[in-house]
Amino acid sequence: MLLIQNLSLENETVFIRCDFNVPLDDYGNILDDRRIRETLPTIHYCLDQGCKIILASHLGRPKGKIDLRYSLLPVAKRLSRILNHEIIFSKDVIGKETQSKVSKLKNGEILLLENLRFNPGESENDQDFAQKLAKLADFYINDAFGVSHRAHASVEAITHFFDKEHKGAGFLLQKEINFFHDVLQKPPHPFTLVVGGSKVSTKLEALKHLLPEIDKMIIGGGMAFTFLKALGFEIGNSIVEDDLLDGAKEIIKEAKQYKVKLFLPVDFIIAKEIQQETKSRIVTYQDIPKEYMGVDIGPATLKLFEEAVEKAKIILWNGPMGVFEIEKFSHGSFEFARFIASLHATKIIGGGDTAEMIHHANVMKNMTFVSTGGGASLELLSGKKLPGIRALSV
Ligand code: 3PG
Repeated sequence: MLLIQNLSLENETVFIRCDFNVPLDDYGNILDDRRIRETLPTIHYCLDQGCKIILASHLGRPKGKIDLRYSLLPVAKRLSRILNHEIIFSKDVIGKETQSKVSKLKNGEILLLENLRFNPGESENDQDFAQKLAKLADFYINDAFGVSHRAHASVEAITHFFDKEHKGAGFLLQKEINFFHDVLQKPPHPFTLVVGGSKVSTKLEALKHLLPEIDKMIIGGGMAFTFLKALGFEIGNSIVEDDLLDGAKEIIKEAKQYKVKLFLPVDFIIAKEIQQETKSRIVTYQDIPKEYMGVDIGPATLKLFEEAVEKAKIILWNGPMGVFEIEKFSHGSFEFARFIASLHATKIIGGGDTAEMIHHANVMKNMTFVSTGGGASLELLSGKKLPGIRALSV
């Protein structure tokens, strides 16, 4: 790979693609700033080189339109506090304000652009948009492991506007790749994959690729309902991705072929609304009433999952077991996290939500590696060449 430490960055203008996609509450408060802190080594390095630094990131999925709920302004404020350094903020991405602020940027100053996904060109990997971003700087650094599985303009297309002497991987990207490379070399067995969360669509392909490598697959959280529905069960009002039912069936079939033991929840905490005050109760997976949704795994499932994971030599966990952000529905995720933390295994946590959950369960320090990438780490482990990494390969 092309690496930041091999580039002649001294006093130059550097564009650093970061993944500042941090969780925010309804008031715009950052709930977990790990993704910001993890980028510090690269930022410090560029500051030490006397660079003019342009930082860029996405936040959420604003679908190509300006939506201030996804503004990066809270990130600018937090980064400024962590670094104890002024962060100049541009309210547009490649417009006049950015052009003007870049032209006035001095050595050792840092400019953060507004959310790249406010421009439709970002997710479309648009050449024109990428070229405009590229023109802002002399060097391109990718330190956004979490989004390196997306062929987006600031991750992929932009790299074509810099030659090999002017682009490279930042320190976070390098750390993540090196760790997963070592795991991929010869993964120990039993290898247990734990998946949850709600984004089935982004994980299905990776799960398929991982089946030949793993021994057990535990599916909890919102994802479980797509699998239960695919098996013909009533899931009430629970979250589901109906267009992925066939994909889920295929995973179930292929798991059998590869002799991978598949574990699904056998009971749930259900509620009518995702609110702390809502009444909730425990039901088995066959008994979810129409107007209720599953919001956490139940006690029998927790026991089942603990037994399933107990003897693993390596555990890769991506996606919480329930809506852990609401205290009432956090028990399953937190208890399972504490159980996994107590095991003598290689414990790898992937993804923003999962890392946040582990942080709140207070077991971060017991994990072997906490990756900043959810979908990215799954895709990397499934053997796929990620667009953001391929673009920086020699
Ligand atoms: C993530 O949170 O996994 C990354 O920031 C990528 O976000 P995305 O799934 O919206 O592309």
